[in-house]
Amino acid sequence: MTGPAAAETDHLKSKMRTFNTIKIFLMVGILCVLVLHLYKDFIEHSAINLDMDVQDDKSHVQPAKNKSVVFSWTRCQKNISAANISGFSSLPDNIKDFLLYRHCRHFPMLLDLPDKCGGAEKSAEVFLLLVIKSAPGNYERREVLRKTWARERVHNGVWIRRIFISGTSGVGFEKKRLNRLNAGLKLEQHEYNDILQWDFEESFFNLTLKQTLFLEWMDRNCPDARFHLNGDDDVFAHTDNMVEYLQGLKDNDGSKQLFTGHLITGKGPIRLAGSKYFVPIQVQESETYPSYCGGGGYLLSGYTARVIYNMSESIDIHPIDDVYMGMCLAKAGLGPSSHMGFRTAGLHIPSKKMDQYDPCHYKDILLVHRLMPVQVYFMWHKIHDPNLKCRMKKISNIKQKFL
Ligand SMILES: *[C@@H]1O[C@H](CO)[C@@H](O)[C@H](O)[C@H]1NC(C)=O
Ligand SMILES: *[C@@H]1O[C@H](CO)[C@@H](O)[C@H](O)[C@H]1NC(C)=O
Ligand SMILES: *[C@@H]1O[C@H](CO)[C@@H](O)[C@H](O)[C@H]1NC(C)=O
Ligand SMILES: *[C@@H]1O[C@H](CO)[C@@H](O)[C@H](O)[C@H]1NC(C)=O
Ligand SMILES: *[C@@H]1O[C@H](CO)[C@@H](O)[C@H](O)[C@H]1NC(C)=O
Repeated sequence: MTGPAAAETDHLKSKMRTFNTIKIFLMVGILCVLVLHLYKDFIEHSAINLDMDVQDDKSHVQPAKNKSVVFSWTRCQKNISAANISGFSSLPDNIKDFLLYRHCRHFPMLLDLPDKCGGAEKSAEVFLLLVIKSAPGNYERREVLRKTWARERVHNGVWIRRIFISGTSGVGFEKKRLNRLNAGLKLEQHEYNDILQWDFEESFFNLTLKQTLFLEWMDRNCPDARFHLNGDDDVFAHTDNMVEYLQGLKDNDGSKQLFTGHLITGKGPIRLAGSKYFVPIQVQESETYPSYCGGGGYLLSGYTARVIYNMSESIDIHPIDDVYMGMCLAKAGLGPSSHMGFRTAGLHIPSKKMDQYDPCHYKDILLVHRLMPVQVYFMWHKIHDPNLKCRMKKISNIKQKFL
């Protein structure tokens, strides 16, 4: 090439060089910003979360100090033979996960409350223990519950105590990011001392695991609490009414069988792959569930909680937590009972013209599922308002049925 063509090529080449140089500068610049960002992230992360990270990586291998009994179980290994079950590969991921880890029953504790009930020996002084399942991210719900129905207090001369039970949120990279949530839980613990947390993944199909881990904790730290309310953090529980109902039970101070709530009978596994409650035959072959109480919330005696704990040790984990409780009861030859004060399927207000959030509907119930935090806050205050006027119609009937 000669003449103008060559000159043009040279010009082009030098242009390309300049362009490349700019590109390199740009890339270096972007890299710097990224590194800076990551560094900042790291600093923030380690500032609030140092302990959590250490625990995260080491707690499985190093024995935990026993200030209390914070167990350091070795990390539970996948059961790879589960992948050999017929049809395994076509199951949804959460079911596969469930089958691979179904045998895992022990996880290290991240947050403990060894003195919540005043020690195991004094735990009979707790009349009603509120055991509330709550995911790490549900800060607002916990905050409202602490101020309303789950406030620790003496009611009618007896103690109500509160515990939130939690796993950890997110896995892998997500876990690192979401560790801030877990660290947030630690700050809450510092302020309120009301959280039990274990190092397992918070998920719908791990709720039974959460339940059995709680029972194990109870056996160690609070075996004699008279009664428990087991429930979710999105319910409205009339805990004053609960105490009065429980105090009114004839000859049951918590040392006899009680398991009551919204009774569900004659149901079986949902075999519809798209459902949240999908339970394939690889998980359960039988087409029926024993009777159980809707998991939004139910009451049980300390005695029954201990029986369930005993039974659970020899019953495979079932992914649906309220069904699993029914299975444990059935194995002990006990059955749940129905209480019309529990509305885990919501309040059925007969007429559209009536206000669903009329406090009068909430004055005489035991539990309603589900309410937003702001509704819980409003309702709790309203039902305690001495000026609240309600017509004494059907409502007094409901009250007679359980008080
Ligand atoms: C630590 O916990 C273990 C497990 O429960 C227990 O056997 C041991 O006695 C505890 N040690 C101390 C010093 O409390
Ligand atoms: C799964 O099944 C195959 C074939 O039957 C067998 O060779 C293999 O050992 C099994 N794997 C496990 C982990 O049980
Ligand atoms: C692992 O899964 C297989 C197949 O479901 C099962 O037979 C076995 O008992 C499981 N092992 C453990 C330790 O749970
Ligand atoms: C339950 O938690 C364990 C431990 O974090 C995890 O390995 C497993 O995948 C979780 N199972 C489900 C069904 O989410
Ligand atoms: C639970 O099992 C233990 C040991 O098997 C037994 O001593 C205890 O009485 C049982 N408790 C209940 C409430 O069934």
